Amino acid sequence: MKILVTGGAGYIGSHTCVELLNENYDIVVLDNLSNSSKESLNRVKNITKKSLDFYKADLLDKKQIIAVFSEHKIDAVIHFAGLKAVGESVSIPLRYFHNNITGTLNLLAVMDEFNVKNIVFSSSATVYGDPASLPIKEDFPLSATNPYGRTKLMIEEILQDVYISDKNWNIALLRYFNPVGAHKSGEIGEDPFGIPNNLMPYISQVAIGHLPWLSVFGNDYNTPDGTGVRDYIHVVDLALGHIKTLPKLFTNPGLLIYNLGTGSGYSVLEMIKGLEAASNKKIPYKIVDRRPGDIDACFADPAKAKEELGWETKKTLTDMCKDAWNWQKKNPKGYR
Ligand code: NAD
Ligand code: UFG
Repeated sequence: MKILVTGGAGYIGSHTCVELLNENYDIVVLDNLSNSSKESLNRVKNITKKSLDFYKADLLDKKQIIAVFSEHKIDAVIHFAGLKAVGESVSIPLRYFHNNITGTLNLLAVMDEFNVKNIVFSSSATVYGDPASLPIKEDFPLSATNPYGRTKLMIEEILQDVYISDKNWNIALLRYFNPVGAHKSGEIGEDPFGIPNNLMPYISQVAIGHLPWLSVFGNDYNTPDGTGVRDYIHVVDLALGHIKTLPKLFTNPGLLIYNLGTGSGYSVLEMIKGLEAASNKKIPYKIVDRRPGDIDACFADPAKAKEELGWETKKTLTDMCKDAWNWQKKNPKGYR
């Protein structure tokens, strides 16, 4: 079986490539390296001792996608490629809409042309907006609070319309909660360009001494310690969710929607303590104003994925912090 992984050089994509190769899938990676480095794929090959085909190509250029499909008989696509920074999407919404939506439309058109109709799409818990209750189930109402989230919601809707028009498509919408951590080898991990937007890479960079302190965005949320609560999921558990989804997709199930989360929430202060324990370093922090758009708490009900895919998370908060720190310590400057 040959899988095309768009965005495969990125954080979640590279970890999923490792697990795909471990399961003996053949893989082709398409990435424009706009938010990643080709070195991640060299590391994937080192970890697995297996090879993969890489195309530096942009989903905005249809000819480049056609070239990949002409050269390979693809069985399914895992579609990670996209821009993902919430704040940036508010400043440059047109770039986000163009990259994420036009890119996906180009990909779907080429898949249709080559009669490849199996796709796994990286959606996000952000499509639940500010949920009325917790834990979040897949049938909760959907909404978007920023342009990035709107691209996820719009792509979910586009894929549903594609399925309605042609029942030969098999489509899995995987709604990720908050991926953190790294491969246990410390060879691959999250390598944000510039100052990190997300909590865990920020804390890791404070621990390594690149940043002086962490700003904790508010301590007056309706949570046990007042700081925001999220469902942090180890990136390897998340990658394995894709591995469990593929065989299901090949049974012609039509449209599938799953939450990929642990079902537990941790606060910002708990994450700081977790990384302090893993790194044996004090993480200085300051409480500052809330970040606009943030919600109190968000965690998944992952029961549907367990029941239908036989997937559940195995790794603990300690594993997440230990592996995040191992990656940071071994690669203080990321892949550079
Ligand atoms: P990432 O930025 O590390 O990976 C995305 C990859 O896509 C990058 O390698 C980038 O170079 C590539 N890319 C972007 N636009 C492209 C284009 N037009 N053509 C070709 N390649 C392109 O991000 P990630 O954290 O690995 O996220 C992967 C997917 O999961 C994204 O779609 C993201 O929105 C989604 N997601 C991420 C999170 C998270 O917190 N990391 C949470 C929920 C959903
Ligand atoms: N936080 C801080 N300080 C920081 C960064 C974050 O206190 O410097 C807090 C936030 O306020 C929030 C928590 O840490 O309470 C987590 O914030 P992240 O930015 O790491 O993650 P979010 O839950 O805000 O959003 C992430 C991705 C979204 C995705 C969502 C759900 O950035 O793209 O998870 O998957 F949609």
